[in-house]
Amino acid sequence: MGFRLALVCSAIVLLSISGLSHAGVTSSYTRVAEPSEEMPLETFPPPAGLNAPEQVHITQGDHNGRGMIISWVTPINDDGSNFVKYWITDSDESTKESAEASTSSYTYYDYTSGFLHHATIKGLKYDTKYFYELGTGRSSRRFSFTTPPKAGPDVPYTFGVIGDLGQTYASNQTLYHYMSNPKGQAVLFVGDLSYADDHPNHDQRKWDSYGRFVEPSAAYQPWIWAAGNHEIDFAPSIGETQAFKPYKNRYHVPYRASKSTSPLWYSIKRASAYIIVLSSYSAFDKYTPQNSWLESELKKVNREETPWLIVLVHSPWYNSNGYHYMEGESMRVTFEPWFVENKVDIVFAGHVHAYERSERVSNIKYNITDGLSSPVKDPSAPIYITIGDGGNIEGIANEYTYPQPSYSAYREASFGHALLEIKNRTHALYTWHRNQDDEPVIADSLWVKNRHFLPEEEETLSGDSSA
Ligand SMILES: *[C@@H]1O[C@H](CO)[C@@H](O)[C@H](O)[C@H]1NC(C)=O
Ligand SMILES: *[C@@H]1O[C@H](CO)[C@@H](O)[C@H](O)[C@H]1NC(C)=O
Ligand SMILES: *[C@@H]1O[C@H](CO)[C@@H](O)[C@H](O)[C@H]1NC(C)=O
Ligand SMILES: [Fe+2]
Repeated sequence: MGFRLALVCSAIVLLSISGLSHAGVTSSYTRVAEPSEEMPLETFPPPAGLNAPEQVHITQGDHNGRGMIISWVTPINDDGSNFVKYWITDSDESTKESAEASTSSYTYYDYTSGFLHHATIKGLKYDTKYFYELGTGRSSRRFSFTTPPKAGPDVPYTFGVIGDLGQTYASNQTLYHYMSNPKGQAVLFVGDLSYADDHPNHDQRKWDSYGRFVEPSAAYQPWIWAAGNHEIDFAPSIGETQAFKPYKNRYHVPYRASKSTSPLWYSIKRASAYIIVLSSYSAFDKYTPQNSWLESELKKVNREETPWLIVLVHSPWYNSNGYHYMEGESMRVTFEPWFVENKVDIVFAGHVHAYERSERVSNIKYNITDGLSSPVKDPSAPIYITIGDGGNIEGIANEYTYPQPSYSAYREASFGHALLEIKNRTHALYTWHRNQDDEPVIADSLWVKNRHFLPEEEETLSGDSSA
């Protein structure tokens, strides 16, 4: 199973190598030694009330942003427990609409899930606040969300970016730091949710507690999910051979809306961004479904409508941490030429439990015989950001490779989250926030310049290596 690092590791001061000839920074920030200890199951009891809906979470439910998938769990499949009522906040009660969920339950080893409800509501008004209500009578619960503005090149929109969250006290810090800033409107989540599989027999109750843990955010704004290795839950020794079973049952995404044949890869448009989600743990070689899908998908992106092309994938391609070093290499070799050709703005990945941001580099010149194989600066290349620093049970990944490779602009072994504030078609403010600081403190940030409309070089605003 995963690695669990001694706490003492996190207190070791990382060597700063900023004296070397390249510009990359290895932060000397010393992470305060706090246990990445999991919050016990009792921290998250089910909500009060008979058959009360729980583990409520929402995600975009169509391709354009006028749909929402509302998901929740009830212990019993009662009359009415599979309906969601929804209405525009300032409208009167008579305008309430309702949608019926599809309901299912799954078993995993000795565990049987509650009833998992997923309702897709469509035809919502853009840029509008809605209430929605789940459950009946005294156990009903009310939530709200705001739909995004109609897609357009200069629509400002702010995404939170979180990865490898888990459910430790550190995860809690990450989540509440993100929530304490009112700017975030939707979360880009780069995989590894509950870490249930780090427990005996993949203790599925940990999927339930995870659903309760993230509800305060995920019930109110869409989390755009990508799957990580901890979603695979492939365990033949206990008779569980259907990969991604708990994840696919619990977290629905609008993959059919982008003509995908699998929930593990899909795309959405949201405001001025086009988000492509990929699966590191599904076949991606030539002739495979994911490969064919991505090839035709990239052709559909209209940068005049959605200038910001963003990719989410779990396993990073440009990582200089000892952990998971080069695991993303085969996917990089397969897809990187397309990313450069299509001028992807940013690729967010997780998997490595630390933070790293790359330069705009590419390594696509080589073939197996020509000997040309090293990353070079490339204004058409994405920035690669590894943000697997949500704070899960496996602890911090703080064994870097030295010297710091030239592709690595900034790296730090801390937990945190990021914000991507898209301002218009040319500029987006990107900020990474480490957990140990007050929320307004920014440890790494830059103005990202759009690759289609303003392919100029960026300058780091703060590479705060000595906080
Ligand atoms: C999680 O963080 C919030 C905000 O700081 C705090 O109120 C809550 O008690 C924390 N939960 C746990 C279990 O520590
Ligand atoms: C490999 O690279 C060499 C040198 O640039 C080039 O001559 C050759 O055509 C390339 N082979 C393929 C199959 O692209
Ligand atoms: C886009 O946003 C940036 C950052 O706020 C600003 O400096 C720039 O003037 C804006 N561009 C236009 C055309 O408004
Ligand atoms: Fe991972």
